[in-house]
Amino acid sequence: MSKTVILIIGSNGQLGTVLSEELRKIYGDSYVITSDLFKRIDSVDNFIKLDATDFKAVEEVVVKNKITQIYHLAAILSAKGEQNPLATWDLNMKTLFNVLEVSRLHKVERVFFPSSIAVFGNNVDKENTLQSSNLTPSSVYGMSKVAGENWAHYYYVKYGLDVRSLRYPGVIGYQSLPGGGTTDYAVSIYHEAIKNIEFDCFLAAKTTLPMIYMDDAIRATLELMEAPKERISIRTSYNIAGMSFNPEEMAASIKEHYPDFKIKYNPDFRQGIADSWPKIINDTDARNDWNWKPEYDLKLMTKTMIENLK
Ligand code: SER
Repeated sequence: MSKTVILIIGSNGQLGTVLSEELRKIYGDSYVITSDLFKRIDSVDNFIKLDATDFKAVEEVVVKNKITQIYHLAAILSAKGEQNPLATWDLNMKTLFNVLEVSRLHKVERVFFPSSIAVFGNNVDKENTLQSSNLTPSSVYGMSKVAGENWAHYYYVKYGLDVRSLRYPGVIGYQSLPGGGTTDYAVSIYHEAIKNIEFDCFLAAKTTLPMIYMDDAIRATLELMEAPKERISIRTSYNIAGMSFNPEEMAASIKEHYPDFKIKYNPDFRQGIADSWPKIINDTDARNDWNWKPEYDLKLMTKTMIENLK
């Protein structure tokens, strides 16, 4: 194998921000190239402005920098996606096709593609959502992820491209903000809590969803990407679970630190998306194949979030 050189597409995003940092620690600054549509003021040197819908632009970056691994994190998420379904489909699929095709043509050794709990629809066991569930997503974002998983599998079977994927729950971290998702409330709630602002929640009190703390999400990603090939039995995307809770339980965990914290509930269109998603994910395959195990529960996450945001 040649020296690992990583390209992160969508590095300004919620996961990209933290994952870039971690990958730099492991592989060294000069071997990790971050890219997104615009440069942030705090971007490090190895940043490239890249529109991943542009095949030639992606190809040029990969060839010029002798990229061996791509983390393709750019996508329009569930809630934002519903405002413009066709454009969301176009962007999510086009960028993935470009990544897969450039990787095939230029022999990229490993590709990471994030999938989501949004792949599941109403016909699954919501209290124990199995890896092998039938996938009938309710959002265009979920549809693009189901299609993406199948394309990842196709490129693996047909061309031997080593694509790996996780079905992320809602990701919660203090370092970065999500944008346009249905699980975003679970990050904003902490930002409001530390400012003593009453939190206006766009989901109903009892809406239980699968969530994961950022450190666990990053560790899962790295463990999957570092696992020996023969340990990866699933080439669509792995279910992974962190914890499950609803807004009311989350508010209660915040009240342990801020007894006066207040929350009100004003469900909007995102409630419909949340209601179509699982409550508890079964991640037995990830546990068996590459020893996945989450470390954070709601209590520990709340403590860590508040300490870091304060
Ligand atoms: N967190 C994402 C969303 O809410 C799910 O993948 O859209």
